Amino acid sequence: MAKQPQRDALRMLADDHRTVEALFEKYDNARSASVQAKIVRQICEELTIHAMVEEQVFYPAVRDAVEDDMMDEAQVEHDSAKALILSLMTAEPGEEFYEAKVSVLKEQVEHHVYEEERQRGSMFAQVRKTDIDLDALGQEMAALKQQLQEQAKSGSLPQPEKVALRA
Ligand SMILES: [Fe+2]
Ligand SMILES: [Fe+2]
Repeated sequence: MAKQPQRDALRMLADDHRTVEALFEKYDNARSASVQAKIVRQICEELTIHAMVEEQVFYPAVRDAVEDDMMDEAQVEHDSAKALILSLMTAEPGEEFYEAKVSVLKEQVEHHVYEEERQRGSMFAQVRKTDIDLDALGQEMAALKQQLQEQAKSGSLPQPEKVALRA
């Protein structure tokens, strides 16, 4: 894979969001079940890696700088998306509820991305006001992301684990 130029933490996460949005759009335009299945697997992998990078590096680094409620909701939203991802990882297009699961996952991701980067007082806006070193954080996140992408390539990416909804 081409080496990405060094990006700060917020740029990197925003780019991930755009990647997933584009994949959902591709899914909506896909006409064959095999193409749909491939896109959904990609979405699940992208989101799993993205959530791990956020939960293991980004969220802990910004936790104290962002409203508690917002951080707690973000985690519950991640866990809720993981339930759908786990279910979709073993499902095939045409199965009962398949399309509904993809469509609800898309809605949840849109909502979550809105709160992270777009709404007034978004998580990213709150982070931007601090003196957190976003370049150093971006570097740490990029290293973890690369490691997870390699694991995904070799089929050893861990399954998403819920943090707040551990029933
Ligand atoms: Fe995110
Ligand atoms: Fe997130």
